[in-house]
Amino acid sequence: MCGIVGAIAQRDVSDILLEGLRRLEYRGYDSAGIAVVYNNEIQRIRSLGKVNELVKAVGEKTLAGGLGIAHTRWATHGKPSVNNAHPHVAGPLAIVHNGIIENYIDIKNRLIEKGHQFTSETDTEVFVALVNSYLEQEGNLLNATKRAIKDVKGAYGTVVIDKNEPEHLVAARSGSPIVIGLGIGENFVASDPVALFPITHRFIYLEEGDIADVSRFKIVIYDKNGNVVNRAVNEVNIENDEAVKGEYRHFMQKEIYEQTKVVTDTLAGRISDEHFVVECFGTNARDVFSSIERVKIVACGTSYHAGLMAREWFESLAGIPTDVEIASEFRYRKSITQKNTLFVTLSQSGETADTLAAVRIAKQKGYAHTLCICNVPGSSLVRESELVFLTRAGREICVASTKAFTTQLVSLLLLVGSIGVVKGTISSEDESGYVASLRKLAPSIEKALALDSKVEEISREFVNKRNALFLGRGAMYPIAMEGALKLKEISYIHAEAYAAGELKHGPIALIDADMPVIVVAPNNDLLAKLRSNIEEVSARRGILYVFGTPKLGLTKDPNIRFTEIDEVDELIAPIVYNVILQLLAYYVAIIKGTDVDKPRNLAKSVTVE
Ligand code: G6P
Repeated sequence: MCGIVGAIAQRDVSDILLEGLRRLEYRGYDSAGIAVVYNNEIQRIRSLGKVNELVKAVGEKTLAGGLGIAHTRWATHGKPSVNNAHPHVAGPLAIVHNGIIENYIDIKNRLIEKGHQFTSETDTEVFVALVNSYLEQEGNLLNATKRAIKDVKGAYGTVVIDKNEPEHLVAARSGSPIVIGLGIGENFVASDPVALFPITHRFIYLEEGDIADVSRFKIVIYDKNGNVVNRAVNEVNIENDEAVKGEYRHFMQKEIYEQTKVVTDTLAGRISDEHFVVECFGTNARDVFSSIERVKIVACGTSYHAGLMAREWFESLAGIPTDVEIASEFRYRKSITQKNTLFVTLSQSGETADTLAAVRIAKQKGYAHTLCICNVPGSSLVRESELVFLTRAGREICVASTKAFTTQLVSLLLLVGSIGVVKGTISSEDESGYVASLRKLAPSIEKALALDSKVEEISREFVNKRNALFLGRGAMYPIAMEGALKLKEISYIHAEAYAAGELKHGPIALIDADMPVIVVAPNNDLLAKLRSNIEEVSARRGILYVFGTPKLGLTKDPNIRFTEIDEVDELIAPIVYNVILQLLAYYVAIIKGTDVDKPRNLAKSVTVE
């Protein structure tokens, strides 16, 4: 979703800003823009489409000036267009903004009455016009911004500059992340540290309600009460720059192939011999786990599917009642808080607005404890949760999540195991069995990846398809859901998942020779039932793509394309089969010719509701 970069330096900053935007491209956006102050004038260039278009519009010549801001916009208020692209200007000011100003219509009407003319449909232009309206009265940019922020409702991560005050910029955060990158005699701001890695590894994370006055040699941060505060400086080290595709054609392919490694990384130090290391969830994890009686999981998108998977495991392996909910529903629903419940959020980014709101609400509603499983250290969710477990997927760049999901599942198995052991619902014999299965995960994923060319071959049959159904039962149902989501996200084929037993209650009406039906069928207790479901589809001339164990015992059938999958422990089968569905989505997207890493309309991190 939207990205922000800003800089105050002695040197010209436009190249730094454009490189920052490139590094934020993976988040998804539809237009981009830059504004740099030179000789007390704002030079602003905006363009529709990719950052490369903006670079072309800027042209060969570096935009001169040491104060600037830049932005990639993912449209919320107003269509993607040059006029709606940021930075927006009002009087001497220019602004970039992530988030949504909810009361912008009221403010806009007020400003129109006072004679302000707007040139875009955005809430952001209203925001900058509001700051401008206070400029004369308040005397300077900092005070005018502080005043304007009191009037707005909603979420913002924002940076404002003033052509008449070229010695500083003002940044503010409420609901949308902002970091300050520290240089020597120069300072930077961004919505994500990744944007600034080429120039600094030292960052200050603004907290909710903070406003920062950033100049070349000085940074002053005010908290939500207006008090000057010190915020810690964090060293964020990246061993090697993950934003490089290397030998791979797409980041998605690279990330799918990294899964053996990231699974091993995520398990390192968190299982020992035959045991789960409970303390990896926090020093007080044992006390927390022994006191809870149920689990509530809240997440969005792919992370929500990880939650559905976890419910299976919590209930079947550890006997812990578990309920899973989409964050955007939970936050507005009048739900009942059950006592002694551990509130778990799952998020790759740790910045998803709905998930973040959910954890805040959970605290207000008196949930006993909060725990997050997240891939980004220092993210908002990590900072706001009581217990934290970091997946070690490394940076995921492709918008569609693959390796992060896999590491979430691994982390959830560790959580289920740890809680079960602490509460005595998992025996030591079962514990050692689960740990042994987890150790087999990386080699099993490796074997699944070896099916790459077979899956690629199958994908060719999807070239003219517009719809697809995914079927699974029990633990494989969430995997069918994730497989369908992956396919629709990156190939734009309409795909739905059904618990196979539900087929005859409606979706079977859709089956004909044009409807591909993808089935995930590892060896488990439900195999015979699943076989009947497969036969029901074949009898109606549906074409089936079955990935499964030979134990499924299907008879030769021209309607069934069967791909044999090596036997895999039941515990980890969902994770392994998911890798195959990721490959399928990937190759279908290639055949369809879509922008695999940056699918249309999607954002990597959805920081607005
Ligand atoms: C966006 C992404 C999805 C992701 C979802 C939740 O919609 O495109 O891939 O699953 O957000 O993101 P999170 O970072 O909270 O896991």
